[in-house]
Amino acid sequence: MGRKKVYVTRKFPGDGMSTLSRHCDVLLNKKSDPPSRNEILRNIAGKHGVVCMLSDRMDKEVMEAAGAQLKVISSYSTGFEHIDVKEATARGIYVTLTSDILAEATADLTFSLLLACARNLVEGDRMVRAGRWNVGWKPDLLLGTDVHGATLGIIGLGRIGSAVAKRARGFGMNILYNNRNRNLQSEHELGAKYADLDQLLSQSDFVSIHVSLNEETREIIDMSALQKMKRTAFLINTSRGQVVNERDLIVALKNKLVAGAGLDVFQKEPLSKTSPLTKMQNVVLLPHIGSASIQTRSRMGDAAVRNLLEVLEGKKPDGRFLVNPEVAEFR
Ligand code: DGY
Repeated sequence: MGRKKVYVTRKFPGDGMSTLSRHCDVLLNKKSDPPSRNEILRNIAGKHGVVCMLSDRMDKEVMEAAGAQLKVISSYSTGFEHIDVKEATARGIYVTLTSDILAEATADLTFSLLLACARNLVEGDRMVRAGRWNVGWKPDLLLGTDVHGATLGIIGLGRIGSAVAKRARGFGMNILYNNRNRNLQSEHELGAKYADLDQLLSQSDFVSIHVSLNEETREIIDMSALQKMKRTAFLINTSRGQVVNERDLIVALKNKLVAGAGLDVFQKEPLSKTSPLTKMQNVVLLPHIGSASIQTRSRMGDAAVRNLLEVLEGKKPDGRFLVNPEVAEFR
């Protein structure tokens, strides 16, 4: 049996690429931009496996273009809304992810956003650089709000939500959470208290979202949710842009229904340069970098490569990384 052929849609940090090249013939998109739809359709033809990113739509047309030998779609991501899993399963193609490897890094970034919002970090930096810091110390310069002693409401207490809760405990915050199921371990270990969504929204000083995107969570934060929040509260989102109705959020921010927002994700990415969010002082905006540390992105690369190689070696990948284990039954 010859070497397997693999398409990789983007370079990523770490040793994963060289491991992959030792085992397979790799076609790599060397540009840092995502490949166009046509490039994907052309380059996936005849491949046994593909390492793809969140921005690469993997649907029926792509799987068809690949051909029947395609055995694995290994996504360099935790989310998998870009992949038609049903179609892949029907074709006997394993879909794998890098799972919760990014949990701690994303929790770090969530806390960075929370602190930046609470204490005007970005505005302070802008002021100093722009030469607008005219009087030395001032009793009322850039007054923020306390993080210690404040209440953090976490929507979705999975691996990332729990990692955020751990940090919040270190900061002396009170923790409320809402989740599909109660998480008794976190209640016990982190002192997190279960609250229904309305209670969480109305009692929290910071609301942080850590759910995955699905039909239940799409736009869970809309105008009616925003109206339940304290006017002094901040919304932090490092999960998916589509869990927030961005238009409603903009209205709520403009009308000061909430104090501000820290956003790493948007309904459409990249965020339009003309989005009203870019003109607002009470928001901190980041370009979807929750998992963007060298170490985490390298570990994600190692996992994406390991998942792909396991399938091509005829093994079933670890359940933690596998989206459609049922493929094994009819292979
Ligand atoms: C993911 O992996 O789903 C993140 O959003 C990007 O790292």
